[in-house]
Amino acid sequence: MADPFYVTTAISYPNGRPHIGHAYEAIAADAIARFQRQAGRDVRFQTGTDEHGLKMMQAARARGIPTGQLADEMSALFRAMDDRLDISYDRFIRTSEPAHHAASQAIWRAMEAAGDLYLDRYEGWYSVRDEAFYAEDELVAGTGDGAGERLSPHGTPVEWTAEETWFFRLSSYRQRLLDLYAANPDFIRPDARRNEVMRFVEGGLTDLSVSRTSFDWGVKVPGSPDHVMYVWVDALTNYLTGAGYPDAPDELARWWPADLHLIGKDIVRFHAVYWPAFLMSAGLPLPGSVFGHGFLLQRGEKMSKSLGNVVDPVDLADAYGVDTLRYFLLREVSFGHDGSWSPEAIVTRANAELANAFGNLAQRTVSFIAKTLGGELPGRGRAEPIDGALIEEVTLACAGFKAAFGDLALSQGIEIWLRGVVACNQYIDTAAPWALRKTDPERMHAVLRTLVRAIRALAITILPVVPTSAARMLDQIGAEARDHAAIDDDDWYDRLGASEFRIAAPTPVFPRLDMPAEPA
Ligand code: MSP
Repeated sequence: MADPFYVTTAISYPNGRPHIGHAYEAIAADAIARFQRQAGRDVRFQTGTDEHGLKMMQAARARGIPTGQLADEMSALFRAMDDRLDISYDRFIRTSEPAHHAASQAIWRAMEAAGDLYLDRYEGWYSVRDEAFYAEDELVAGTGDGAGERLSPHGTPVEWTAEETWFFRLSSYRQRLLDLYAANPDFIRPDARRNEVMRFVEGGLTDLSVSRTSFDWGVKVPGSPDHVMYVWVDALTNYLTGAGYPDAPDELARWWPADLHLIGKDIVRFHAVYWPAFLMSAGLPLPGSVFGHGFLLQRGEKMSKSLGNVVDPVDLADAYGVDTLRYFLLREVSFGHDGSWSPEAIVTRANAELANAFGNLAQRTVSFIAKTLGGELPGRGRAEPIDGALIEEVTLACAGFKAAFGDLALSQGIEIWLRGVVACNQYIDTAAPWALRKTDPERMHAVLRTLVRAIRALAITILPVVPTSAARMLDQIGAEARDHAAIDDDDWYDRLGASEFRIAAPTPVFPRLDMPAEPA
């Protein structure tokens, strides 16, 4: 059986509509999942919505509707966004599902049995926006209109909270966590995030308040009906619920521990400190890696309702095309760093790299074969050394993409792939097949054959990024196998040439986009 690969995104709060930051995370995780499938791994990809907690309650109250209704409405929009963006999730989990309540109660009981939970009184600061507790010395002073106000390190409002809660003995996990980070340098990536977490843990950990009594929208604490779990306890547990915890031991053994939790940089502490401590306490294996990607900014600015610059990712997909949006986000933003987007930046990249470089290469080649050879695949013809040299360059570019993607260097991978595309375009200019039609058809055959082979390798390689367009391109040239092994199968061309397959006149896969008239 193929080697399993379990990848997750964060589960989003459905307190409002999805924005482009959510789309970015889903697209990145999807490209990774598709890449691993191509590599032959048996992939399980989970995403979903995080529906409990005060933030959800307050958002519902502001709209005057029951919290469950808000969750239903917004969760459906997150799922619709994923479907529109071709996110190939295997499981869309909602934390309101009964199976998830059962899993959260099971991990709670396991932590309790380990002696890690105790009742006490919590008094301290809480940010509803972050759903996070903060120590006094972590708070920062507000500026501008909010001068004098105390804010969380993320700049969100905090409120004083005092109530009886359950506590988790996080303080006793300090050394075990530091040992984990030391033994597994990849447990937290990229390095900048790892350093932040290590500094935080080295500074000492206080026990964590893990239940609330002042509201009831959450998972009930077993044996304490007045308590609901702190939303992050149940939220993190979603990764286990989706893997069959606690009642499907075979499924759990297959998928747990997860290989990769892909999340944004703002929630690394929850995933790299609290989560492994909960799992250690419950006696469960730890995930392989937590990757904290950067934030997506709009023209360099944070997106927020108050700035009125929140854009619906579905509208962007409608305007520019799903694959264009996917390509742009993965190519433009160095994975792990913050990045910025604008309509002009999308159009510029899409036209230069997709329409002109890659699309045009395929379009010219395929339509020439359709027209000149009646769609019949060109034979071997008379090869020259530049043909082999091109195939070598393309092979190198595809291998470079694979190595980079395997390492989560997504934008670098695409950049390396693009070198293969550029090499093809230079080759076309030099070999000029159009000029050989009458004078040297044997040579023309060899050139076109080389190009079809190169286009196939490049299209298979870029499939995780632009799945629909690259698949259309492969359909046009009759290339059926699409996994990594297919790239190295050199005989496919001759097999196909001997078959009934004929290339038809194609329509361009990547249309040229118009620059927006007014900056949006
Ligand atoms: N519900 C929690 C996560 C629980 S995971 C067990 C949460 N939800 S969220 O809706 O606020 O964020 C969901 C994901 O989107 C997070 O990984 C977050 O970092 C990411 N992003 C939110 N805004 C973002 C940008 N502007 N840019 C990129 N990613 C961003 O946190």
